[in-house]
Amino acid sequence: MWTWLIAFLIAFFVSGAATAQQEADTVAPEAGSDAAAAFAGLSADARAAMMAKQAGRPTEAGEWMVAAANPLAVEAGARVLRAGGSAADAMVAVQAVLGLVEPQSSGLGGGAFLVWYDAESSAITTLDGRETAPLAATPRLFQTAQGEPLKFFDAVVGGRSVGTPGTPMLMEEAHRRWGRANWAGLFDDAIALAEDGFTVSPRLADLVAGDAKRLRRFPATEAYFFPDGGPIAAGDRLTNRPYAATLRQIAGDGARAFYAGAVAEEIVAKVRGAGGNPGVLSTVDLALYRVKERPPVCVAYRGHDVCGMGPPSSGALTVGQILGMLAHYDLAGLGPQSAESWRLIGDASRLAFADRGRYMADADFVPVPAEGLVDPAYLAERAELLSGDDALPQVSPGAPQWDHAFLWADDMSIELPSTSHISIVDAQGNALSMTTTIENAFGSRLFVRGFLLNNELTDFSFRTHADGVPIANRVEPGKRPRSSMSPTIVLKDGQPVLVIGSPGGSRIIGYVAQAIIAHLDWGMDVQQAVAMPHLVNRFGSYDLEEGTRATELSQALAAYGYEVGARDLNSGLHAIAVGQTLQGGADPRREGIALGQ
Ligand code: GLY
Repeated sequence: MWTWLIAFLIAFFVSGAATAQQEADTVAPEAGSDAAAAFAGLSADARAAMMAKQAGRPTEAGEWMVAAANPLAVEAGARVLRAGGSAADAMVAVQAVLGLVEPQSSGLGGGAFLVWYDAESSAITTLDGRETAPLAATPRLFQTAQGEPLKFFDAVVGGRSVGTPGTPMLMEEAHRRWGRANWAGLFDDAIALAEDGFTVSPRLADLVAGDAKRLRRFPATEAYFFPDGGPIAAGDRLTNRPYAATLRQIAGDGARAFYAGAVAEEIVAKVRGAGGNPGVLSTVDLALYRVKERPPVCVAYRGHDVCGMGPPSSGALTVGQILGMLAHYDLAGLGPQSAESWRLIGDASRLAFADRGRYMADADFVPVPAEGLVDPAYLAERAELLSGDDALPQVSPGAPQWDHAFLWADDMSIELPSTSHISIVDAQGNALSMTTTIENAFGSRLFVRGFLLNNELTDFSFRTHADGVPIANRVEPGKRPRSSMSPTIVLKDGQPVLVIGSPGGSRIIGYVAQAIIAHLDWGMDVQQAVAMPHLVNRFGSYDLEEGTRATELSQALAAYGYEVGARDLNSGLHAIAVGQTLQGGADPRREGIALGQ
């Protein structure tokens, strides 16, 4: 059963008998690569964590742990935790540094969802820091004069796609509820890195070079990412004093320094003045912005409760539906190398995506049958559809229990991979799972005071109706676009056992569901679970991760009747397993680490 996984891991990572600490002391991280320069100043612990990841092993710790997409951000979080800060405190420090060193994925100009497990009360709380559509948005926001959907990047690049950011207020709200450390001090690392300079990572450099045409459209964006005419390169030292100044304002005055006054006015001016594609955001939108507490969505799976973010995210409902259907099948007995496992997972995912496209959107604007969608009886009925021998020839949305008689048409919104995920467990046993985004890589490409503005509004359906029937995820003023972000905490007997999430557009759902199955059904440790080759099916065709042994299932899946293709599947899973010790896993497809003590 293990040969498939083990062969993959050996093929991708250097195996070694030395301890992580010995390796860190004797081998430079990613020796000989640009990453060695980018992360040369890391602590011995962080280098050990990087070595553990490269060797395919989880990081182990006894008290606390933080996992995120960039070692500098993880180190900032670790310093807070080491000094006795809470997971919420550490998140603020991690997010502040991510906005600097991984600006393409998340930051002050974006939005996020946060799932919190409180060790004292054993309660799960979910906070919605999603961007909102401006009050001046109309149903025609993403349509041509003829009412046809705009081309995706014509909508993305510029002011039109920018929603009111939620991340700064979410950071403040999490700290207000669960913080112990002094707020202002949580920005120290990010401010120092922004003022003194940080080393550009290979990933950031590659993405800048690959997006040059769009980034160069706006002078401030071009000036930052192409300082001497050419793109920033891996190993360059980059400062961002405007970002440091913005952080100083937020550190001193709280999030209100962002949502009113000079920062807010400059954001609005940038959006409204975006050459060729202005938006309609106003200072009133920023002044009205609020973080919302939402009811968590929890679904039973193999004796666990899988808890996450409900609408406007489709994450927990869709992950929950997939797992709730698969609970009726013996995936552990079948194993990870069985094509039958992937037939079941693939078609459960297709059925869940059919419901997602029909029913899931911002529940403050449209009725969402959230309870009905994860009702065990409904999922048992949907699971029956998987009992055949071949791929389902077609899937359609089901009819969950609902107290509304609305008819919705199926959604057509596009989501491309981007985003970042932070998992933290603190010394008190609180757990935080937060997925954070500016949507597309580099968001709207508009750069204000050292950070990029999101393009989150393009997560709405560009069409508002299909054949006269309204689409639940259509644009409406003040509404939050549907998300796929799936920050998740898995509980066993009310205690957290797994904290996990990923970037990746609408494939986030498949990445997270697969990693949970890998850990709970197939017994993989967290590092194996996040590194495992991906197989994702959302709408019928099966995406197999190119360059991995996942492609060996290609023929078997095609024989079931799936269209099959190999492609880059760029997840960024960061996970912490909570047991006798803490074990952290960081996705080898990205630059992050899991670090603990
Ligand atoms: N923009 C990515 C998501 O919210 O799913």
